[in-house]
Formats: sequence, structure tokens, C-alpha cells
Amino acid sequence: MVFVLPHLLVFLLVLLLPISSIAQNNGNVTVGNSLTATDNTTSWLSPSGDFAFGFRPLSNQKDLFLLSIWFDKIPDKTVVWYARDDQNIIIGGATPVPRGSKVELDADKGLVLTGPQGDELWRSNTIVGTVSYGGMRNTGNFVLQDSNSNNLWESFNKPTDTLLPSQIVERSAGVVLYSRQSETNFSKGRFLLKLQDDGDLVLNSINLPTDNPNDPYYKSGTAASAVDSGTSSPGARLVFNNSGYIYIQRENNQTFPLNQEKLGSTSDFYFRATLNFDGVFTQYSRPKTSNANGSWTSLWSIPGNICLATVSNSGSGTCGYNSICTLKLDQRPKCDCPVGYSLFDPSDQYGSCQPDFIQGCQEDKLSTGKDLYYFEVLIKTDWPNADYAFLKPYTEDQCKQSCMEDCMCAVAIFRLGDSCWKKKLPLSNGRVDDTLDGGKAFIKIRNGSSIPPQQGPHSPFNPESRKKNQDNLILVGSVLLGGSLFVNIILIIAICVGVYFIYHKKLKRPMTLSNVNSVETNMRCFTYQELVEATDGFKEELGKGAFGVVYKGAIEMGSSVPVAVKKLHSLFQDNEREFKTEVNVIGQTHHKNLVRLFGFCDEGQQRLLVYEFLSNGTLASFLFGDLKPSWKQRISIAVGIARGILYLHDECSTQIIHCDIKPQNILLDDYYNARIADFGLAKLLMMDQSHTRTAIRGTKGYVAPEWFRNMPITAKVDVYSFGVMLLEIICCRRSVDVEAIEEEKAILTDWAYDCYREGVLDALVEHDVEVLNDREKLEKYVMVAIWCIQEDPSLRPTMRRVTQMLEGVVEVLVPPCPCPFSRTVTMS
Ligand SMILES: *[C@@H]1O[C@H](CO)[C@@H](O)[C@H](O)[C@H]1NC(C)=O
Ligand SMILES: *[C@@H]1O[C@H](CO)[C@@H](O)[C@H](O)[C@H]1NC(C)=O
Ligand SMILES: *[C@@H]1O[C@H](CO)[C@@H](O)[C@H](O)[C@H]1NC(C)=O
Ligand SMILES: *[C@@H]1O[C@H](CO)[C@@H](O)[C@H](O)[C@H]1NC(C)=O
Ligand SMILES: *[C@@H]1O[C@H](CO)[C@@H](O)[C@H](O)[C@H]1NC(C)=O
Ligand SMILES: *[C@@H]1O[C@H](CO)[C@@H](O)[C@H](O)[C@H]1NC(C)=O
Ligand SMILES: *[C@@H]1O[C@H](CO)[C@@H](O)[C@H](O)[C@H]1NC(C)=O
Repeated sequence: MVFVLPHLLVFLLVLLLPISSIAQNNGNVTVGNSLTATDNTTSWLSPSGDFAFGFRPLSNQKDLFLLSIWFDKIPDKTVVWYARDDQNIIIGGATPVPRGSKVELDADKGLVLTGPQGDELWRSNTIVGTVSYGGMRNTGNFVLQDSNSNNLWESFNKPTDTLLPSQIVERSAGVVLYSRQSETNFSKGRFLLKLQDDGDLVLNSINLPTDNPNDPYYKSGTAASAVDSGTSSPGARLVFNNSGYIYIQRENNQTFPLNQEKLGSTSDFYFRATLNFDGVFTQYSRPKTSNANGSWTSLWSIPGNICLATVSNSGSGTCGYNSICTLKLDQRPKCDCPVGYSLFDPSDQYGSCQPDFIQGCQEDKLSTGKDLYYFEVLIKTDWPNADYAFLKPYTEDQCKQSCMEDCMCAVAIFRLGDSCWKKKLPLSNGRVDDTLDGGKAFIKIRNGSSIPPQQGPHSPFNPESRKKNQDNLILVGSVLLGGSLFVNIILIIAICVGVYFIYHKKLKRPMTLSNVNSVETNMRCFTYQELVEATDGFKEELGKGAFGVVYKGAIEMGSSVPVAVKKLHSLFQDNEREFKTEVNVIGQTHHKNLVRLFGFCDEGQQRLLVYEFLSNGTLASFLFGDLKPSWKQRISIAVGIARGILYLHDECSTQIIHCDIKPQNILLDDYYNARIADFGLAKLLMMDQSHTRTAIRGTKGYVAPEWFRNMPITAKVDVYSFGVMLLEIICCRRSVDVEAIEEEKAILTDWAYDCYREGVLDALVEHDVEVLNDREKLEKYVMVAIWCIQEDPSLRPTMRRVTQMLEGVVEVLVPPCPCPFSRTVTMS
């Protein structure tokens, strides 16, 4: 009975289905038929209706479609194949195509995909013979056949990242499965699966955009080389058989199973095996019946633990560089940045992490003070392969100190009681590994650098680190009590050495600290003469600002370092102490979106600040120049500035309000990262103006309304200016355009709100196609900007909120009109 019932069901289905689907489709498509990519596009269904071939809209890109095959009966329409151009490694293989593209069945060329203008984008290659029809088969295979029903082309022979039951990958065909970029981005990703010439099934990471592989992180062990007394025959094909079992079939027909478990019946379950975008190859099943609320269940995966598996000579591992991989219960990786680091691209959880501070030998030399760095401790964490020094025998304290004093060192690993590895950036293959019991990773973090918000996904290790430190103490204690005599002697020596060092430090400290003021511990104090020489007599002027004139120069620091020297207007003659305090506050800032202050000069009337020199000019010249920068670049600049301001507002020892945020005060470094300049100077100036109380700080067009009213000045003035500047970044135009032909366009903030309210953002960005292709983000950014330019400071979001909105962590609500205060407010 148990067996009869499913068969009876299948029999009934076979009887019923053709009748119900004949009306629309018998699975056959004749030459000349076509499909067009639109919102209500039709598709070519398999006779059973399980699979469909056609265009699927990309979930995150409204106007892009993917020519693909998908499970049509399940709500999430899981894609199992997509048109991919294997020749074109630069495009990355996948072919999301614009609205209006068309796929047509041609007798000679097979399937031909053309763009809205008729340009050919892709075709099913290697057709020999004349196609008479094509068909979506019940297995999920799309085939093209000639008049004698010979298969001329099959999607099963061109798999993308997924295999289905009855699909066979022949070693001789040289087929390779590539992962996607991400769950929703179908471009070629970082991992591949193939049956190698020697018969081994392997998983490799590759070095995009080329296919060049790193060492495999999984090997089936089915290669020809006979280890076990000459019996092993090489793997010939990877078989996903009709009952859902996956195995490697050797040349002698022996099978090497990849899964051993008993599976449900293919009449009750859908099966698929996918090389996921994170490099894990997984077989999934899903009940056919509970369509509405079923989901794919993972049956097994290779490798078993990808975090531990991806050590290779190059490549970052499954997570990006500097990231740490932990395995989730479903055998898929989770990637996190260590504390002190944050995601390079906030929308890519699996991408690389970058330090939130600047570290390097030149940087360290320029900051002569002690205690530049401190350590965060992680246990059971390692980044194999990034070490440049291996010290042994060495104590933990020696290990830490050695890393602390070495400007190349980013992380020190102490393990095995006497082994110390020093590691440099970028760190790769970061993982949490339970077998590294007792191993400690000391992550070097710049003192005073910004620590990302604790609640965010970026710093999961921070809240635990205190607890872990305690664990370490207990660990040291138990080693002392439980270890052998030899270990104890070593430890006692280590402690003595440690005490000696601490004692010496203590002795030295009062001497150095007594006559060094706080400014000098962080920055260099220049003489006026030194700066005259550095700038060649203030010869080359870089720009003029509200606070002074900037000159180009170079200082000698081992090598010649280009600098920008700002000569301040003489404003605060009798305030020497406060000048130093303020400069010290500025000097303690370390953030990748701020311009670094190297040093200062304070001699009589002469007050100068020495900044790092940035090569790519100001944001103003970048935005309003002849060439429009790309939308992606502008987005990353906007996010960078927001983070920089957030740091000034929330994460410095003393809050810094900039008061003059505008594109002229944003500089761009070699990589076009936004770096905020001139921060902290407003306070210096305001100190001076407490006597006068007349002038309005900031620059016309960017100035928050509270400056004109008798209202307290808070950090929200920067939010206002940021909002104005965000609109300028979106539109690549100045906030006030006196030459505007149409009067309603002259004031950008008004014009932007009008466009937003009337739903004509196309006009706001002057029909910039690149921006309009990303309409969702455009709309979000405009909404954020409108929130920022609210007249009422209390309605404006904080910079933390702004960054969260820009990064998509929180939703952006519909903003109110940024109109002048209502009467009640002005009255009060
Ligand atoms: C498709 O058409 C061919 C020839 O017209 C026929 O032999 C074949 O059975 C058809 N396939 C289906 C699934 O109807
Ligand atoms: C697509 O569907 C919409 C609404 O469902 C309808 O108004 C429109 O005419 C359809 N377009 C085509 C080409 O069928
Ligand atoms: C997918 O990722 C690639 C590489 O990161 C990128 O160039 C491409 O624009 C992305 N495609 C989509 C549709 O987001
Ligand atoms: C598929 O493979 C499994 C395991 O090797 C075997 O038990 C089963 O009979 C095979 N099914 C088919 C249809 O070949
Ligand atoms: C393997 O099986 C195929 C088909 O069943 C058969 O033709 C072939 O001779 C077999 N090879 C060996 C080495 O047994
Ligand atoms: C599906 O959802 C319904 C109600 O939401 C529930 O009663 C049913 O048990 C669910 N089925 C499965 C297989 O989870
Ligand atoms: C900076 O260094 C000092 C001295 O080592 C230390 O006491 C302090 O905790 C450090 N600051 C941070 C943020 O860790």
C-alpha cells in the first residue's frame, strides 16, 4: 500500500495535468515564438507546470529582468538556471537585461536574447543542425530539438549554480558551476564547483574578474591517483539521479555517494542542489504540497564547516578580508567585522572590513605619544596565513608588546603557551575555531578611535570581550596550578619579565610626562621657521577659507610627506591655553572620513595647523566640474561624510560641531573617500566671537535657520547643512543657482521638495539614467535630505539616524514639508 499510493497519485497527475495545461501549453515552443520582458510577461511552462522558462524581474531592480528557469508552483519562484555568458568574464557572466528585451526561438541560432533596441545580448551557443521546436521539460530541463527529436541544446548541459534530479555533469564536458554574487545578484560570484580532469570533485574560490582559482577548499578524493592499492578509478561524472541522490560515478561505474541519508520520494518533494553565494554546496528539499508555507530544507552541505575549510594561499576565504567567520546551524557562514573595524560596503555583510582608524608606520611616526593603541582580545579566533613573523619561545606579554611596538603589526596571536604570530593587513580566512582552545587573538586598535555602535551587527564581539578577559584570567590561573614544574618556571620568568617592564615604564613615565603637555603627546609642535621652509615661503596657495589660507608643503619624516598648512587668521590672541585644548581635541580624532591633523605651530601671532595633504581636491570641484561623477561614487561619498559627522557628534571625547559643512570643506583622498576638513575650528572662532555675537557662522545656502533666530546652536545645524549638501550630491548642482532659467529651480531645497511632492524625481536629477535605474535609493536619499532640512531642529534626525537611514538599516518615513515654522512656533 505504502508504495502503491504515490504511484497512483503520479498516475492520476499524469492523466490530469496534460488536460488542464494543454489549453495554454503542451511544453512545446515552435520556432518564431518569443517572450518579452515586461511586468506581466508570460512564460513557457513545463507540461506539469512545475517549471517555467521566461523573464523574472530582479527583486531589487525594478527595470531589470533575468532570462531564467524557476520552480513555478512555489511562492518564492526559486531560480534554478539563468542565461549566462561564459565567454564574457568582465560582465561577470549573468545577464540581467532591461525591460523590453526579447527572447526568440530561431531555427539556426536557437534561443536569441535581444535588448529593447534589437542588439543581441546572449544566445544558446553550439547549435549544430536546425531547430524545429523547444520545450520546457518536467525535469526543469529546457531543450531544443530538431525535427527528429534529437536534442541540439539543453539547459541541463549549461548549469549555472543549481543542479536538479536527473541532471548529470560529465567530467569530459568541462562544466563548471559558479556561485552568484549574492542571493539577489546573479553576476558571477567568488566560488566554483567542477569535476577536475583527475576525477576529483573540487570547490575553489576564484580571483574575480578572472577565473583563476585558489587552492580547493573541498576535494571529494575521487582522483585517479590510486592510494588504496590501485583500486580507485577516477570520477567520471557527477550524477543527481531521478530519486534525488547525488553521487560521483567513477569510470568503472562504482559510485561515490555525497549523501548517505534516506530521502523522501520525488513525487512528494522537490529537490535541488545549489552552490550558494557563500561557497557552500547544499542539497535542499521542499514538500510539494504545503506550497503556501513550505520552505527549502537543507539536507547536507559540503564542506562541513566552510569557515575552517577555506585556507588557501590567497583569497579572503568565505568572508571578506579582515572579517571573522562563524558557522550557523544550517552550515552556512556568518561574517562579522572585529571590533574597531566596519564593513567596507555596508550593504554587503559578506564583504571585507576596514579599520575605523588609520594605522601605518608613517602615521605612527607622526604621532609620537605613548599609548597610541590598545588591544581587544578574542579567544578561539585566528586568521591563518596573514602572519609575517613567528616568535618562539615567547611569552604572552612579550607577544603583545612586540605587536604594540611594531607599526606593521595589526594582530598578534598567542597560542600553545609559547608561540606568537604577528599578522599584517589584510587578514584573511578569519574564523572562530573551537579546536584553538586557549588561543588568543590580540587585535590592535587605535586609542580614541571610533567604536561602531554596539547594537549593530558590526561588532558582535565587543560585549563579550569583558567576559572573555575573565575567562583568560581563569585560564592563566588554572595553567599555573595545573601545569608541570617546567611550565611554572617559564611562567614565573614571564611574570618577572612582565613586572620588570611595568616597573620600568612606571619609573620612566613621570619624567616624560611632567614636561610634556597633552598636545605634544599626540601631535608634533612645529616652529614657524620649519613651516616657512616646509611651504617654501608660503608659495603655493591651495585655497582660502573662513578660517585662513591653506598652503601646500612637505615635511621630512624619514621620507618627504606632502602636507597642507593652514595659516589661521589671528583671532584669539590671549587664549593660548584654549587654543591648545581645542587643537588637542582635534588631534585626538581618528576616523577614516576626517582629514588628519599632524601638528601645529603656536608662536606669538602665528598660529598654523598642519594637515595631511589630499590629492583629489574638494567635493565641490568633483561635483560641479565638467564630468559628472558616477552615482555609486556619490553614494559612497554621502555615506562617508555622514559617518564622519556622526563621529564628530557622538564618538569623540568632546562633541565637535562643525558649523560649516559644505562641499568646499570635504576633501577627497586617492580613493575618492570623503574626508571632512576644518572641523573643530568653529569653536575656536566662536570663542573669539562671544564678544561680538554678530557674524553668522557657516556659509550662505547651507546655514540652518536657527542661526538667524535667537535659538541655541546644537549639532542639528550640521544635520541641516548635510541635508543641503546631500541634495547637491544627488543632483550634482549647487544649492543656490542664481542663473537658473526657471525661477522655481533656483533654490535647490525648495525645488527638491516640489519634485518629491509631485513625484517627478526624474526632473530633479535631470533624467540622469544611471540614477533613475536606482530609483528606490534615489527616493530614499531625497527623503533623508528633506528630513535633514526641516526648519524645526527637533524634527531633524540625529546623524546616527541619518547614517542608519542611508545605509538602509532603518526605514525612512515620509518627511513633512520643510516649510518655515508655523505661526505657533514663531510666537513662542
Ligand atoms: C512536441 O512536438 C513534437 C513534434 O511536434 C512531438 O513529437 C512531441 O511529443 C511534443 N512534445 C510534447 C511534450 O508535447
Ligand atoms: C499588464 O497588466 C496591467 C494590469 O494588470 C494592464 O493594465 C496592462 O494592460 C497589462 N499589459 C500588457 C502588455 O498586457
Ligand atoms: C552585481 O554585482 C556586481 C559586482 O559587484 C555589480 O557590478 C553589479 O552591478 C551588480 N548587479 C546588480 C543587478 O545589482
Ligand atoms: C539513485 O541512487 C540511489 C543511491 O545510489 C539508488 O538507491 C537509487 O535506486 C537510484 N535511483 C535511480 C532512479 O536510479
Ligand atoms: C558502465 O555502465 C555502462 C552502462 O551501464 C556500460 O556500458 C559500461 O560498460 C560500464 N562500464 C564498466 C567499466 O563496467
Ligand atoms: C501551514 O500554515 C497553516 C496555517 O498558517 C498551518 O495550519 C499548517 O500546519 C502549516 N503547514 C505546515 C506544513 O507547516
Ligand atoms: C588609551 O590608553 C590608555 C593607557 O594605556 C588606557 O588606559 C585607555 O584605556 C586607552 N583608551 C581606550 C579607549 O582604551
